[in-house]
Amino acid sequence: MNLTNNIPLREQNIVLIGFMGVGKTTIGQLIANKLYRDFIDIDHEIESRHGMSVKDIFSQKGEAWFREEERNVIRELCTKTRLKVISLGGGAFMQEEVREICLSTSLVFFLDLSWDSWKQRLHLISSTRPVLENRSLQDIEELFYKRQNLYAFNHSTISTDQMNAEDAAEYIINTLKVSWDIYEPRAPLVFERE
Ligand code: S3P
Repeated sequence: MNLTNNIPLREQNIVLIGFMGVGKTTIGQLIANKLYRDFIDIDHEIESRHGMSVKDIFSQKGEAWFREEERNVIRELCTKTRLKVISLGGGAFMQEEVREICLSTSLVFFLDLSWDSWKQRLHLISSTRPVLENRSLQDIEELFYKRQNLYAFNHSTISTDQMNAEDAAEYIINTLKVSWDIYEPRAPLVFERE
Protein backbone atom coordinates (compact mmCIF):
# COMPACT_ATOMS: atom_id res chain seq x y z
CA MET A 1 0.00 0.00 0.00
CA ASN A 2 1.37 3.37 -1.02
CA LEU A 3 1.30 5.77 1.93
CA THR A 4 1.67 9.35 0.80
CA ASN A 5 0.00 11.27 3.60
CA ASN A 6 0.05 11.55 7.37
CA ILE A 7 -3.53 10.52 8.01
CA PRO A 8 -3.70 7.40 10.20
CA LEU A 9 -4.82 4.47 8.02
CA ARG A 10 -7.87 3.78 10.19
CA GLU A 11 -9.09 7.34 9.60
CA GLN A 12 -8.53 7.54 5.87
CA ASN A 13 -11.58 7.70 3.65
CA ILE A 14 -12.41 4.57 1.71
CA VAL A 15 -13.03 5.29 -1.97
CA LEU A 16 -14.77 2.86 -4.32
CA ILE A 17 -14.11 3.02 -8.06
CA GLY A 18 -15.26 0.99 -11.06
CA PHE A 19 -17.44 1.08 -14.16
CA MET A 20 -21.09 2.21 -14.07
CA GLY A 21 -23.41 -0.32 -12.52
CA VAL A 22 -20.83 -2.51 -10.77
CA GLY A 23 -22.43 -1.85 -7.38
CA LYS A 24 -20.29 0.95 -5.94
CA THR A 25 -23.22 2.64 -4.21
CA THR A 26 -24.79 -0.53 -2.77
CA ILE A 27 -21.47 -1.95 -1.59
CA GLY A 28 -20.29 1.43 -0.28
CA GLN A 29 -23.45 1.82 1.75
CA LEU A 30 -23.00 -1.64 3.26
CA ILE A 31 -19.36 -0.96 4.17
CA ALA A 32 -20.32 2.37 5.75
CA ASN A 33 -23.05 0.73 7.85
CA LYS A 34 -20.76 -2.04 9.03
CA LEU A 35 -17.95 0.39 9.97
CA TYR A 36 -20.35 2.98 11.49
CA ARG A 37 -19.18 5.59 8.96
CA ASP A 38 -21.00 8.12 6.80
CA PHE A 39 -21.49 7.21 3.18
CA ILE A 40 -21.19 9.72 0.34
CA ASP A 41 -22.08 9.00 -3.27
CA ILE A 42 -20.44 11.71 -5.40
CA ASP A 43 -23.24 11.70 -8.01
CA HIS A 44 -25.90 12.11 -5.31
CA GLU A 45 -23.84 14.85 -3.69
CA ILE A 46 -23.69 16.77 -6.99
CA GLU A 47 -27.40 16.16 -7.60
CA SER A 48 -28.38 17.49 -4.19
CA ARG A 49 -26.07 20.53 -4.40
CA HIS A 50 -27.62 21.56 -7.72
CA GLY A 51 -31.15 20.17 -7.35
CA MET A 52 -30.82 18.34 -10.67
CA SER A 53 -30.28 14.75 -11.77
CA VAL A 54 -26.95 13.84 -13.37
CA LYS A 55 -28.89 13.12 -16.55
CA ASP A 56 -30.32 16.67 -16.58
CA ILE A 57 -26.93 18.17 -15.74
CA PHE A 58 -25.44 16.40 -18.77
CA SER A 59 -28.20 17.61 -21.08
CA GLN A 60 -28.53 21.18 -19.73
CA LYS A 61 -25.01 22.11 -18.65
CA GLY A 62 -22.93 19.58 -20.59
CA GLU A 63 -20.48 16.86 -19.68
CA ALA A 64 -17.49 19.21 -19.30
CA TRP A 65 -19.38 21.18 -16.61
CA PHE A 66 -20.27 17.95 -14.82
CA ARG A 67 -16.65 16.72 -14.90
CA GLU A 68 -15.36 19.97 -13.40
CA GLU A 69 -17.95 19.86 -10.64
CA GLU A 70 -17.21 16.17 -10.04
CA ARG A 71 -13.50 16.97 -9.67
CA ASN A 72 -14.19 19.88 -7.30
CA VAL A 73 -16.54 17.87 -5.07
CA ILE A 74 -14.10 14.95 -4.91
CA ARG A 75 -11.20 17.29 -4.07
CA GLU A 76 -13.22 18.97 -1.32
CA LEU A 77 -14.49 15.76 0.26
CA CYS A 78 -11.27 13.78 -0.01
CA THR A 79 -9.07 16.52 1.41
CA LYS A 80 -11.39 17.93 4.08
CA THR A 81 -13.02 14.84 5.57
CA ARG A 82 -11.95 11.62 7.26
CA LEU A 83 -13.66 8.35 8.15
CA LYS A 84 -16.05 8.42 5.18
CA VAL A 85 -16.92 5.80 2.60
CA ILE A 86 -17.11 7.51 -0.79
CA SER A 87 -18.31 6.05 -4.08
CA LEU A 88 -17.17 7.76 -7.29
CA GLY A 89 -19.06 7.92 -10.59
CA GLY A 90 -17.56 5.55 -13.15
CA GLY A 91 -15.96 8.33 -15.22
CA ALA A 92 -14.37 10.31 -12.38
CA PHE A 93 -11.17 8.30 -12.28
CA MET A 94 -10.47 9.17 -15.91
CA GLN A 95 -9.33 12.58 -14.66
CA GLU A 96 -5.69 12.56 -13.63
CA GLU A 97 -6.25 15.03 -10.80
CA VAL A 98 -9.01 12.85 -9.35
CA ARG A 99 -6.72 9.81 -9.40
CA GLU A 100 -3.95 11.78 -7.67
CA ILE A 101 -6.24 13.20 -5.00
CA CYS A 102 -7.89 9.88 -4.21
CA LEU A 103 -4.72 7.80 -4.21
CA SER A 104 -2.86 10.26 -1.98
CA THR A 105 -5.60 10.88 0.59
CA SER A 106 -7.70 7.70 0.71
CA LEU A 107 -7.73 3.92 0.41
CA VAL A 108 -8.96 3.19 -3.12
CA PHE A 109 -10.78 -0.08 -3.87
CA PHE A 110 -11.55 -1.07 -7.47
CA LEU A 111 -14.69 -3.16 -7.94
CA ASP A 112 -13.69 -5.27 -10.92
CA LEU A 113 -16.60 -6.96 -12.71
CA SER A 114 -15.87 -8.82 -15.96
CA TRP A 115 -17.35 -7.56 -19.23
CA ASP A 116 -19.44 -10.75 -19.57
CA SER A 117 -21.05 -10.24 -16.16
CA TRP A 118 -21.41 -6.50 -16.66
CA LYS A 119 -23.24 -6.92 -20.01
CA GLN A 120 -26.03 -8.73 -18.21
CA ARG A 121 -26.67 -5.64 -16.05
CA LEU A 122 -26.83 -3.17 -18.91
CA HIS A 123 -30.64 -3.13 -19.14
CA LEU A 124 -30.84 -2.11 -15.46
CA ILE A 125 -28.84 1.10 -15.91
CA SER A 126 -29.02 2.15 -19.56
CA SER A 127 -31.86 4.67 -19.15
CA THR A 128 -30.21 6.61 -16.29
CA ARG A 129 -26.63 6.86 -17.58
CA PRO A 130 -26.16 9.62 -20.18
CA VAL A 131 -22.74 8.23 -21.13
CA LEU A 132 -24.42 5.08 -22.45
CA GLU A 133 -26.92 6.96 -24.63
CA ASN A 134 -26.62 6.37 -28.38
CA ARG A 135 -23.74 3.94 -27.97
CA SER A 136 -23.72 0.46 -29.48
CA LEU A 137 -22.77 -2.52 -27.34
CA GLN A 138 -19.45 -2.60 -29.17
CA ASP A 139 -18.79 1.07 -28.29
CA ILE A 140 -19.61 0.40 -24.66
CA GLU A 141 -17.27 -2.61 -24.63
CA GLU A 142 -14.46 -0.41 -25.97
CA LEU A 143 -15.13 2.21 -23.29
CA PHE A 144 -15.22 -0.54 -20.65
CA TYR A 145 -11.76 -1.85 -21.56
CA LYS A 146 -10.26 1.59 -22.04
CA ARG A 147 -11.33 2.56 -18.55
CA GLN A 148 -9.97 -0.64 -17.00
CA ASN A 149 -6.45 0.71 -17.69
CA LEU A 150 -7.07 3.68 -15.41
CA TYR A 151 -9.02 1.81 -12.72
CA ALA A 152 -5.81 -0.23 -12.47
CA PHE A 153 -4.41 2.64 -10.37
CA ASN A 154 -5.80 1.56 -7.01
CA HIS A 155 -4.75 0.19 -3.64
CA SER A 156 -6.78 -3.01 -3.86
CA THR A 157 -8.76 -4.77 -6.62
CA ILE A 158 -11.75 -6.98 -5.85
CA SER A 159 -13.04 -9.33 -8.55
CA THR A 160 -16.74 -9.29 -7.86
CA ASP A 161 -18.04 -11.76 -10.47
CA GLN A 162 -18.64 -14.48 -7.90
CA MET A 163 -19.74 -12.17 -5.08
CA ASN A 164 -22.98 -10.53 -4.09
CA ALA A 165 -22.91 -7.04 -2.55
CA GLU A 166 -22.81 -8.39 0.99
CA ASP A 167 -19.83 -10.67 0.20
CA ALA A 168 -17.95 -7.82 -1.49
CA ALA A 169 -18.52 -5.50 1.50
CA GLU A 170 -17.30 -8.18 3.94
CA TYR A 171 -14.29 -8.89 1.75
CA ILE A 172 -13.30 -5.23 1.65
CA ILE A 173 -13.72 -4.85 5.40
CA ASN A 174 -11.54 -7.90 6.02
CA THR A 175 -8.89 -6.51 3.66
CA LEU A 176 -9.01 -3.21 5.52
CA LYS A 177 -8.68 -4.85 8.93
CA VAL A 178 -5.66 -6.85 7.80
CA SER A 179 -3.93 -3.78 6.36
CA TRP A 180 -4.78 -1.67 9.41
CA ASP A 181 -3.29 -4.34 11.69
CA ILE A 182 -0.19 -4.91 9.57
CA TYR A 183 0.68 -1.30 8.80
CA GLU A 184 -0.55 0.41 11.95
CA PRO A 185 -0.92 -2.19 14.69
CA ARG A 186 -2.63 -1.00 17.84
CA ALA A 187 -0.52 -1.09 20.98
CA PRO A 188 -1.67 -4.06 23.11
CA LEU A 189 -3.79 -3.15 26.13
CA VAL A 190 -1.79 -3.56 29.30
CA PHE A 191 -3.60 -4.04 32.59
CA GLU A 192 -1.41 -3.25 35.54
CA ARG A 193 -1.99 -4.85 38.92
CA GLU A 194 -2.46 -2.45 41.80
C1 S3P B 1 -20.59 8.13 -15.43
C2 S3P B 1 -21.02 7.31 -14.42
C3 S3P B 1 -22.14 7.66 -13.54
C4 S3P B 1 -22.29 9.19 -13.46
C5 S3P B 1 -22.38 9.79 -14.81
C6 S3P B 1 -21.15 9.48 -15.67
C7 S3P B 1 -19.47 7.66 -16.30
O1 S3P B 1 -21.94 7.13 -12.24
O2 S3P B 1 -21.22 9.76 -12.75
O3 S3P B 1 -23.55 9.30 -15.42
O4 S3P B 1 -18.91 8.44 -17.08
O5 S3P B 1 -19.13 6.45 -16.20
P1 S3P B 1 -22.07 5.55 -11.87
O6 S3P B 1 -20.73 4.92 -12.11
O7 S3P B 1 -22.42 5.56 -10.43
O8 S3P B 1 -23.11 4.98 -12.73
